[in-house]
Amino acid sequence: MSDLAPFPVLVTGGAGYIGSHAVLALQDAGWPVAVIDNLSTGFRFAVPDDVPFYEGDVADEALLGRIFAEQGTRAILHFAGSIIVPDSVADPLGYYLNNTVKSRTLIAAAVKAGISRFVFSSTATIYGMSDVSPLHEGLPRDPINPYGWSKMMTEQMLADTAAAHDFDYCALRYFNVSGADPLGRSGQSTIGATHLIKVAVEAALGLRDHVAIFGEDYPTHDGTGVRDYIHVSDLAAAHVLALEALTREPGRSLVMNCGYGRGFSVREVLDAVDRVTGRRIERRQQLRRAGDPASLVADTGLIGQTLPWKPRYDDLDTIVAHALAWEEKLGEMRRGA
Ligand code: UD1
Repeated sequence: MSDLAPFPVLVTGGAGYIGSHAVLALQDAGWPVAVIDNLSTGFRFAVPDDVPFYEGDVADEALLGRIFAEQGTRAILHFAGSIIVPDSVADPLGYYLNNTVKSRTLIAAAVKAGISRFVFSSTATIYGMSDVSPLHEGLPRDPINPYGWSKMMTEQMLADTAAAHDFDYCALRYFNVSGADPLGRSGQSTIGATHLIKVAVEAALGLRDHVAIFGEDYPTHDGTGVRDYIHVSDLAAAHVLALEALTREPGRSLVMNCGYGRGFSVREVLDAVDRVTGRRIERRQQLRRAGDPASLVADTGLIGQTLPWKPRYDDLDTIVAHALAWEEKLGEMRRGA
């Protein structure tokens, strides 16, 4: 438990997958939290009943003003946004609106209200198709799709805002977020989600008849894509520590990778799901998915030096077990059990 006196925090996108876990982590650490979410992809049930909930848009300045006044907001954790890479290619202007333009409104409202701490969900997609492994924060940002650009532009706005105003930010560049709250309070609930672990767990439960392996000819140890899978609750804990770091040391902004620094191939993930469920998922070989890099693994040196972050669930089978437990619970909820 921290020695800092907690103050009110606003979580945007707090009804979504990662945002809802951040709300739980903040509450568990004693921070007063409120949520703004337009429920376009989030779920009202993902926000605990005792958390003030505002249904609306992060670009609604009047609503933001009301929330800041009612809640006494002194920090913002900004998760609201769109995250599906192929959708961003089909609808770039929609992505720039949701992820960049609306973030600008939110940042401007924060500056105007004197809210000087801001934690932002950024992404490893910013590194593009880099061949470097592990990826460190000093690499050039070189996105290859509008989703990556929309996040990169927001990182840039934050950096320029921090230089000009009394405003500090932390951008956390997420690797592959997976798993679910160990206590079963939240998880990945998106219908039609494309994430490998979610898809594989759905297949193990009979909700899909197979899992496609997108490419077996990558220059990796078994030919399939390698990713750094990070448990969503460890990621959420990193946000709370980032908020504490901004509070302890005003005048310093941070940009850090958030992963575990080790990669698993698609085959290794599917083997883990088989191990945890005791069933065998059917695999089907498919061509590479457009825009997929061979390997994305975080260099974790910077976050390790900067935050007292001790991952608790850095184990693939644990991540899969938690994802599976949530998928079973979600099935019961949807059946009305
Ligand atoms: C995910 C994130 C992205 C983030 C990136 C960081 C989403 C929607 N995507 O992308 O925002 O920047 O992590 O590392 O949150 N695969 C299969 N079969 C499937 C699904 C996936 O073989 O059915 C493979 C993919 O080709 C890839 C790996 O599994 O090699 C992971 O894919 P996925 O879970 O979709 O995540 P990313 O594309 O890495």
